[in-house]
Order: sequence, then C-alpha cells, then structure tokens
Amino acid sequence: MNNKDLLQIAEDFDNPIYVYDSEKIISQYKRLAKAFKQVKNLKINYAVKALSNINILKLLNNYGSGLDTVSIQEVQLGLEAGVSADKIIFTPNGVSIQEIEEAVKLGVQINIDNLAILEQFGSKHPEIPVCIRINPHVMAGGNTNISVGHIDSKFGISIHQMPHLLRIVENTGMNINGIHMHTGSDILDIEVFLYASEILFDAAKNFKALEFLDFGSGFKVPYHENDIETNIEELGEKLSKRFNDFCKSYGKELTLAFEPGKFLVSESGYFLVKVNSVKQTTSTVFAQVNSGFNHLIRPMLYGTQHEVVNISHPNKNKRFYSVVGYICETDTFASNKRIAEITEGDILAFKNAGAYCYSMASNYNSRFRPAEVLWHNKQAHLIRKRETFEDLIANQVKIDLR
Ligand SMILES: Cc1ncc(COP(=O)(O)O)c(C=O)c1O
Repeated sequence: MNNKDLLQIAEDFDNPIYVYDSEKIISQYKRLAKAFKQVKNLKINYAVKALSNINILKLLNNYGSGLDTVSIQEVQLGLEAGVSADKIIFTPNGVSIQEIEEAVKLGVQINIDNLAILEQFGSKHPEIPVCIRINPHVMAGGNTNISVGHIDSKFGISIHQMPHLLRIVENTGMNINGIHMHTGSDILDIEVFLYASEILFDAAKNFKALEFLDFGSGFKVPYHENDIETNIEELGEKLSKRFNDFCKSYGKELTLAFEPGKFLVSESGYFLVKVNSVKQTTSTVFAQVNSGFNHLIRPMLYGTQHEVVNISHPNKNKRFYSVVGYICETDTFASNKRIAEITEGDILAFKNAGAYCYSMASNYNSRFRPAEVLWHNKQAHLIRKRETFEDLIANQVKIDLR
C-alpha cells in the first residue's frame, strides 16, 4: 500500500486511525517459517497482546499460526476468531489459579511460571499437561521494561530453582509436556538468543515426556531505513541445526515453538493523524496532532522512535519538528525529527504502528479510541469502529447524589 491509499483511508474513515497491511503480516509469517524450514515440526504462536483485533487473529490462523495469550480474555478472543483451543497457549504472569483453571476449561495449553502455582495446580490436576516457563537469567532486550529474563525479573521459574521444580513434578506426578522461555523484546544479538537456548536445552533434559520447546520471541524489527534487525535467517539456520541435534539426543522429534508479536505485525501498521496546528516556540517547531499517548504510548513508555512521514506532502523540503499530542501532560511522539515541511491539516503517518499501539490505547482525557482498518486484497476494510460518546459512558452508573 502507498501514501495515496493511506491518505484516502484517512479521509474516508476519518482520523486518527490505525491501518494494517495484511500482505506484510503474511510475508513476515512466511519469512519466519522459511527461516526454520529445517525443523520438521515448527509452531508459530502469534502473541495476541501485540494487536488483538480478531480479524488479525483470523488472518494469521488462516496461514497456520496458533496464538500465544496472556489473559483469559485473549483466549476468548482467539476462540471468537475461530482458532481452535489446541492451537492456543496460555502464558500468563502473576494471575490467580482460578484464571488458570478457567483457561483449562477452555481447553488451551497451560504455561506456568511460578512454583507456588505449579504445586497447587499439579496437586489438583496431575493429569493435565503443563508447560513450564523457565527464566534463564540472560540479560536481553532493548529496554529494561522489555527485558524479562534477567535475575531481577518477575517472569519465569528461575533456572536455579530446578531442584525444587523437579521435586514438585515428582511429588505431584504431573505431566510436563513443554518448556518455555522468553527473555525480552528487541533482541539484536542472535548469540544472546543462542546462549539462552542452550540453557533451555539443558533444562529440557530433566523432563522425559516433552512434546515441545518454546523459545518465546523478542526479535528486533527495523524502525527506519538501514536500522538493525534480528537476522532471522541466520538465527533460523543456527538454531534449527542445534534443535535437530537436541531432538536426536533426546530421542524424539519435538516441536519448536515461537511466539512473535512485533515481528509479525509491527511493520504492517500505520497510525494516521492530522496536524491541528504548527506552533513555533523559542526553541523548536511543534507539530500538534489530533492524538496523544492515549492512542500511541510507546514513545513515552519505551522511548520508541517511530518514523513519522508527512504523507500529504512527502516531497516538500525537510525541516526539524517535534511532533506532540493534545494530552494535558507531555506527550512527545518524536523530538527534533526531519520531516517534509508540515502545514496545518496535513496527515502524518507513524510507521511500525502494528504492535503494542492500538492494544495499549486508552480513553485518557475522555477521548475516543480510534478506528482500525485492514488493507486486504487492495481494499480497505473497517475492522473496528471509532468509539463514540455512548461507548465512553456505557459502563458508568448514574446514582442519586441528592
Ligand atoms: C511471553 C511473551 N511472549 C511473546 C511476546 C512477544 O514479544 P515480541 O512482540 O517482542 O515478539 C511477549 C511480549 O511481551 C511476551 O511477554
């Protein structure tokens, strides 16, 4: 899809608006599958949290993807999208045993990352197969908020707790059918990935009835031209070989699983906003847009640098701008960036807006969440309506305050 298509969508469906290109999602899915073609049983479970519109879940499922979910509601969304329960893994953190039991009732694969819960669950349901999330204690990830495998992280069962873990498994007689790790997001260095994988292989040797090894995700995607990204093809070649060797020594053809979010959907997405005003101050020129961190919080939360393009006038001379929102707190999307000269009313496109953008949106400042459009087979399809005032007050209960 090109700038003209995006501009037409911003006009036809109003803005701000999220747009996703299905072709990009599918090409990323195929690219990952191809990189691991040497592995006989590969399972890609799309991380629903990245972008949870049921049409996206359906699209990926049509190409063979399963789902990685972190809440009972994400499981329900997956089922609603028509994904069968046996293609869904539930990987929560810090949830109650009741929520895990609800997921069991829905028939999905359970992944447990806490010894106390594992013991309770194993004692009650020794017959239900469980995957275990290991924390390999590897420092990986582009930002402390998205590095989850290190020693201070709340995620996973520490690799140093293996004796305790094994005792629980033995005492309860439970069935461990998979082991999993996810060390963080935006991992550049595939050596870090391979190093953590060795820890997972080592841990796997302790379990006799495994069916799969889940290597999580964390692939770094490019945010602008010539940006660095995880070399997925090199990782595929090296990890596949190592995995196949492991299967030989384990004596069984296991499944290699991944659960990518960003890799599959980040680059497919564009967030389109309109410039309300251009404001010169003593130090900079602000482009003030009809959105804020209520719609796109990643730049403020993680310092993510989304490329901003003036799609109304892409060929004008470039000037320096700070792009800011309308929220009554500082909400700087991009600081001191070269963008084609902006005038009031121009449409700006934020790139890499597929992952963790709409799914992190809120109603802060009592603004509506935007609509979502899927560009599929060269046509724009509305896949979520823009909210209205009725949505804002739908759950508010008016009481008599006399
Ligand atoms: C357990 C788990 N798996 C997969 C993902 C997806 O990561 P990414 O979007 O970097 O691919 C996350 C992201 O937070 C996660 O927590």
